[in-house]
Amino acid sequence: MEKLYVHPLPVRIWHWINAAGFIVLILTGIQLRYADLFHVLPFPVTVRAHNWVGFTLIVNYFLWLLFYLFTDKIKVYHPELDPAKHFRNTLRQLQYYGYGIFKGDPNPHHVSLYHKFNPLQSVAYQVIMILLVPIQFYTGLLLWDLERFGGSVALFGGVRVVDTVHVSLFVFFIAFIFVHPYLASLGHTWSAHFKAMLTGYEEVD
Ligand code: HEM
Repeated sequence: MEKLYVHPLPVRIWHWINAAGFIVLILTGIQLRYADLFHVLPFPVTVRAHNWVGFTLIVNYFLWLLFYLFTDKIKVYHPELDPAKHFRNTLRQLQYYGYGIFKGDPNPHHVSLYHKFNPLQSVAYQVIMILLVPIQFYTGLLLWDLERFGGSVALFGGVRVVDTVHVSLFVFFIAFIFVHPYLASLGHTWSAHFKAMLTGYEEVD
């Protein structure tokens, strides 16, 4: 097997800080949302932890964004512009995850330097990193200081709308934190992609 350097250091630093931070945000978020059910930490401590980790992840997000914006590695996020090809490849990948993998078929996606994501990862990571994560951070920022951001909150339809968006994405990220590591464990060994996200090197045929 050949080793390909697909996860540069800034991406790996961003990723593991982000993953640890999301777990803390989810746990403190559950306690904030269901304060009547969970009393793990005192309420003010939970609020402060949630806010500080949130701000840390907002700064950390710019590490990911600026790295990709100022290097040619941004190519790994370029969408497939041929809809027929994209649809065909997506279908093949879905067939593999839903059926082929259980028969021991090879993964139809072959990792290369500028093509590290399969079509499902490609779309999912684009939507998550360019849309959902920024919306989650922005709504979190608005909720952090409703007085200071009163104008923006009113513009988006009031605190209920902003809170509903924040909580809906919170539910999405709870599901993501289970599904994403599960899919990441489907390499040629269960730990192959985790090792790659730690060392930077993906093993390829
Ligand atoms: C327990 C938490 C997590 C684990 C174990 C984990 C694991 C991994 C692994 C192994 C990879 C590399 C292989 C692959 O793409 O499948 C990866 C990539 C990625 N993960 Fe995670 N992850 C976690 C949390 C998160 C969270 C919370 C987010 C975003 C909200 C996230 C977003 C991403 C993105 C965008 C990539 C591609 C990074 C790039 O190369 O630009 N992950 N993750």
